[in-house]
Amino acid sequence: MAKVRFDTPMAEKQFSREEIRAMRRSYGEAGLSQLDPDPFKAFADWLLEAHENPMIIEANAMVLSTLGSDSMISTRTVLLKDISEGGFTFFTNYESRKAHAMESNEQVSLLFPWYAMERQVAIQGLVAKVSQEESHEYFATRPWGSQIGAWASHQSSPLASREELEQRYAGAAQKWPEGSVVPCPPYWGGYRVTPLSIEFWQGRYSRLHDRLRYDRAITTADWELNRYYP
Ligand SMILES: Cc1cc2nc3c(=O)[nH]c(=O)nc-3n(C[C@H](O)[C@H](O)[C@H](O)COP(=O)(O)O)c2cc1C
Repeated sequence: MAKVRFDTPMAEKQFSREEIRAMRRSYGEAGLSQLDPDPFKAFADWLLEAHENPMIIEANAMVLSTLGSDSMISTRTVLLKDISEGGFTFFTNYESRKAHAMESNEQVSLLFPWYAMERQVAIQGLVAKVSQEESHEYFATRPWGSQIGAWASHQSSPLASREELEQRYAGAAQKWPEGSVVPCPPYWGGYRVTPLSIEFWQGRYSRLHDRLRYDRAITTADWELNRYYP
């Protein structure tokens, strides 16, 4: 495999331990006393507030953690594209590293880090593929360039050079020129995470943060809402 070449000079700035520690901030007064008894409604309220906050870009970006068959946890950002059928949906390559991990272990976590609002939502759940119809329906709504990109990428596989990727892109673009219908690749589609717990965190003064977590009761499958020490 070709060596990776850095085109940009490496940053010269080195942070001292003191400078990193000085990044600490105090959190605000926005308390968390009221949440809708339905965690999906509570989540929708927070997602909307994050989306409308100019300090937050891509409010629907979430950090997905998966457990591989080698017992290693891996983590990456994906975009939330739907909240339906009691779950949170994202789309990806079914042959990627995360997809292999989710084949071995259906347990995953999602994290929405809305730091500018001193908020996070952390979700634990079980993941499953969505139907092929659902994947095809969403794929058809994607911009042409993203559709072609899905055909060009063997996501998570070693790549010899940037040129190879661009050649594959050009090849797919020739096959399906802009304006034509690009089919959904057979290895591309969605996953839905069905939550078992959803925790809402709001930063407060003196690190006395608010933490409220909904857990699914094992017997009734109803949501139980409890407050936890920060
Ligand atoms: C803001 C942001 C959004 C992303 N959205 C997606 C996404 O929706 N689906 C996806 O497959 N990768 C997405 N990625 C790329 C992933 O983080 C990751 O690099 C890629 O999916 C390969 O992960 P894996 O090798 O662990 O499978 C996104 C990255 C960023 C920074």
